[in-house]
Amino acid sequence: MCGIIGYVGPKSTLDVLLGGLRRLEYRGYDSAGVSVISAGGNLETRKKAGKLDNLVSEITSHPLPESHIGIGHTRWATHGAPTDGNAHPHLGGPTSKLSLIHNGIIENFGALKAELLAAGTKFASETDSEVAAHLIAAEFEKTGDLPKAFANVVNRLHGAFTILVIHESQPDVVLAARRNAPLVIGLGDGENFLGSDVAAFVEHTDRAISVGQDEIVILRAGSVEVRTFDGAPVTPTEFKVDWDASAASKGGWSSFMAKEIADQPQAVADTLMGRLESDGSVVLQEIDGLSAEDIKNIDRIIMVACGTASYACDVAKYAIEKFSRIPVQVELSHEFRYRDPIVTERTLIVAVSQSGETMDTLMATRYAKEQGAKVLAICNTQGATLARESDAVIYTHAGPEVAVASTKALVAQITAGYLLALFLGAGRGATAQAELRRLGQELLKMPANVTHVLERLEPIRELAKKMADAKSVLFLGRNVGFPVAMEGALKLKELAYIHAEGFAAGELKHGPIALIEEGQPVFVIVPSPDDVDSLHPKVISNIQEIRARGAKVIAIAEEGDAEVGNYAEHVTYVPKCENIFSSILTVIPLQCFALELSTAKGLDVDQPRNLAKSVTVE
Ligand code: AGP
Repeated sequence: MCGIIGYVGPKSTLDVLLGGLRRLEYRGYDSAGVSVISAGGNLETRKKAGKLDNLVSEITSHPLPESHIGIGHTRWATHGAPTDGNAHPHLGGPTSKLSLIHNGIIENFGALKAELLAAGTKFASETDSEVAAHLIAAEFEKTGDLPKAFANVVNRLHGAFTILVIHESQPDVVLAARRNAPLVIGLGDGENFLGSDVAAFVEHTDRAISVGQDEIVILRAGSVEVRTFDGAPVTPTEFKVDWDASAASKGGWSSFMAKEIADQPQAVADTLMGRLESDGSVVLQEIDGLSAEDIKNIDRIIMVACGTASYACDVAKYAIEKFSRIPVQVELSHEFRYRDPIVTERTLIVAVSQSGETMDTLMATRYAKEQGAKVLAICNTQGATLARESDAVIYTHAGPEVAVASTKALVAQITAGYLLALFLGAGRGATAQAELRRLGQELLKMPANVTHVLERLEPIRELAKKMADAKSVLFLGRNVGFPVAMEGALKLKELAYIHAEGFAAGELKHGPIALIEEGQPVFVIVPSPDDVDSLHPKVISNIQEIRARGAKVIAIAEEGDAEVGNYAEHVTYVPKCENIFSSILTVIPLQCFALELSTAKGLDVDQPRNLAKSVTVE
């Protein structure tokens, strides 16, 4: 999830590029870089790890020449830690006359890199993107036709990518291609722009074109040509940008949290991308630090995390135990670290953290390693401390999560937990291959299921607005719905600053039911009525018990559940799916409810009081 910009025209290219990158920085801020071609025809590049200000300082101390063509990039690292060398742009070819920037994941970069290495190519970075730069430069050497070379190479790339290229020998054209990643064109008068979204050029023009799947753009100051990857001409449709500049910094959304809730289908899809083979087997490239022997040797898994990440662990526990039959316990990092826990060389610690910098979780994993355990991290931040200190990593590809209240990182963490469960199930031989294949296919349906939920949230938004004065809200769930209830309560506490509490629905009668009084709002996550373990009737009974005492029931239930509507004042339905995967869906209405209630109370949803995005102290 990176920010990219391209420009050709009479303006000072550097001003256009840096201005655009400033608005795109929300898309990623691990590093930034620009390439320009000077009026004298020389390609020059500046790039720096860290925030955009680091690049600006670099350019101040090493000025770039005047130019009227260039590309710029602000990075959210996927392959390769956030270093100067891994920052984009990447130069291609032995004479580095070509510069490339990339947003996405090139799934088949390994094989392509091997081909280049065999041909003697020298690499300056660990990134998948640099592979494309060298391939295009080499193809151009062969064909002498840059657009043709560009098309030949992008046709060989698998995965998700938006790529921009400039070449010193053709100082009037920026080439671009997109597959499974965003790209828009900004149309000016005697100038034209490219961007990962309109934030890149919204200050210069409100005329734009969305580039379609598998399309190539040949952009000049006075012309824009769009073709398919096969070379056929495309007649693009222009649209008017209706964002104002401030909205542009949030991708057009009212808040980062609203944007990140909407990003969840992509977060799930990108976390799954390249990791599920058609036979249901799971490919986790980054966990080579765990050998097959290590996996067979595991006799217990302890998952450590804090806050929302700990609820991802609670969901993952059900899946890992079900598919791998390895016992799993979930511990809050800060409790685990100081209770003298039993940890052996056969314990696998799975540490889950969006930031990878949560000190409680770092201290827990350091302690476990001292006891001889292996540590696997599930982390959303490339090169974070937790990732670097772990034996193995499964990166979630949710992109930068800016809002303090975690949403898309949570669903990506849960998705990574499912992948780990299937991976361990296969490695331990605990689940039949045919069942793993079926589960893999069900998992691949989840991004579309998430989209389906997102498209039906208006009623719960309206309900939230009517409940702005609520003083207390309870959340009930069973099985995989229980962690969702806990997360729903946390979201409401974090965002609306009101009392909210999550319970296991079965626990109600053991005390919490005393809280129920007339009008008490209670969310209930209702399992599938087709639930083989017949939890549905039990939860319906729980609903009856609280309604009998005056509760106002708000149900999250599966489409087709004909019974729940008889007992709930409000029902939000989610699509039918594999029950163990349902947490990804049932949590979304609760995220939305908390966001809307907070907004109705006029609170800052992106930066709630007293909180920080990453708690880097114990
Ligand atoms: C979630 O909305 C909160 N911001 C908080 O609970 C967070 O999940 C927790 O601090 C863990 O952060 P991490 O995932 O970066 O380790």
